[in-house]
Amino acid sequence: MKKTTRRNLVKYAAVCGIGFTVLNSVPVVLRYVSPSPDWPMPKGQVKPGPIKVADLKDVSPGSFTMFNFNFGKITLVGGLWYLEGKVTHQRKGATQADGKDMGGGANENIGLPDEIVSYCLLCTHLGCIPKNWDPEQSILTCPCHNGMYDISNGASVISGPPPAAIPEIKLEKRGEEIWAVDWKDLNYVKTLDVYKNKGAV
Ligand code: FES
Repeated sequence: MKKTTRRNLVKYAAVCGIGFTVLNSVPVVLRYVSPSPDWPMPKGQVKPGPIKVADLKDVSPGSFTMFNFNFGKITLVGGLWYLEGKVTHQRKGATQADGKDMGGGANENIGLPDEIVSYCLLCTHLGCIPKNWDPEQSILTCPCHNGMYDISNGASVISGPPPAAIPEIKLEKRGEEIWAVDWKDLNYVKTLDVYKNKGAV
């Protein structure tokens, strides 16, 4: 039988120590690679279908609220804005090649003013969560590569690498509540590679 020498013991201890350090650092690495820690609530809690987003009394001009929703196979993050100033919604059927300029569309939300809008917070570049909001400029910035979306104009891309606008979410007033009920334009969402690859549609 092979004898365990003092030198071998030291070697095993060193290997175990390195292994322990590597395993310990995995969650830290994942934290920076995956957008999941940015989620406003734990994933997996949202069933597919329409969902209440807010009470009307809780939204006021200038407010920005995040929520989770699921219109298909996975839970996503959405943003709800009550904007100030001129607002245009996303143009439906605008599946043109680049999809960057999607503004100028009509408000198809039910029972809500033009200024209340909602978009999916899944960046069309690589799928991070754009959530840095500048209310003065009405610009939403993705922290991963600085992609910028103009929320007052159909979430059109104004700079950075995103290939297309983040898609609009259709809202409905139900009593004194705001509900997210569906994609405004499912056909547009189907053209977005990140959304297809993540199983959002
Ligand atoms: S993932 Fe949003 S800009 Fe790259």
